[in-house]
Amino acid sequence: MDKPRNDSALSNAAVFEVDAVEYRYEDAAALDGVSLYISSGESVVLLGANGSGKSTLLKMLDGLIFPTGGSIKAFGAGLTDDALKDEGFSMSFRQRVGFVFQNSDAQLFSPTVWDEIAFGPLHLGLSPEDVKERTEDTLHILGLQHLRERPPYHLSGGEKKKVALASVLAIGPEVLLFDEPTAGLDPKTESFLIRLILQLTAAGKTVVTATQDLRLAAAIADRVMVLGEDHRLAGEGEASTILGDRELLLTANLIHDHPHRHGGVEHFHPHSHLKDHHGNEHD
Ligand SMILES: Nc1ncnc2c1ncn2[C@@H]1O[C@H](COP(=O)(O)OP(=O)(O)OP(=O)(O)O)[C@@H](O)[C@H]1O
Ligand SMILES: [Mg+2]
Repeated sequence: MDKPRNDSALSNAAVFEVDAVEYRYEDAAALDGVSLYISSGESVVLLGANGSGKSTLLKMLDGLIFPTGGSIKAFGAGLTDDALKDEGFSMSFRQRVGFVFQNSDAQLFSPTVWDEIAFGPLHLGLSPEDVKERTEDTLHILGLQHLRERPPYHLSGGEKKKVALASVLAIGPEVLLFDEPTAGLDPKTESFLIRLILQLTAAGKTVVTATQDLRLAAAIADRVMVLGEDHRLAGEGEASTILGDRELLLTANLIHDHPHRHGGVEHFHPHSHLKDHHGNEHD
């Protein structure tokens, strides 16, 4: 079953307007003429093979890097290096937009899990009591109480991911950017995360998730965008339409042929792993 459409997605207020964006690293192209529009309250999934430019695009939406061509607006204002040098704009933007990195090690820096989660609320200028309450609530929601005194850099990959997620949720941003949020999570934690994303969108948050996981896309997306290996937008539309477009998914290397063993006989067939969170096949 596809995700039921969230009516607030129809409100159409622009969160991000990306216009003909290009991005080149010193030695590699990462985005080539990408235009897209993300409305308030939508859950958008960005699909693409390794190296197609998903993380680069999310970093741009978070104002961590800036286009080498084209432009980006966030909440109607230009999202530029200069704009973010303004303390007021930067503070408000960082409060409104939260980013959970693909690589948790790049996100975690505090001596304990508790400090990591409390960091955001502390910098929002909340009272010590409110910081404590918000940190405790977030620890509880993510089931991290038993790790509260541990140093984040000693945790397992999945535990680190949860702490990174907690540190962002504790700020209460209205827009959440998730980069490969389910990578490395066990099935129970993955299904918890899917429920969490559905709750966030039901509460009116805007969620942009970069992934190669078609099951995750089927479970959470209102709309899907596909980045091709040429770093251009290869397709975009309602989740059910895009996830049913076998040609598009094959071209973008999101489904593939690989060998299976059935009854001792090895053979190839196209493979998509496209099940939703109820276990229903989608192709
Ligand atoms: N810091 C960097 N310096 C140079 N090139 C980079 C850097 N980061 C990414 N690239 C290149 O930019 C392109 C897009 O990378 P990006 O990380 O955005 O892809 P992705 O779609 O997130 O891939 P993955 O699925 O592996 O996470 C790739 O060709 C990559 O090699
Ligand atoms: Mg990536």
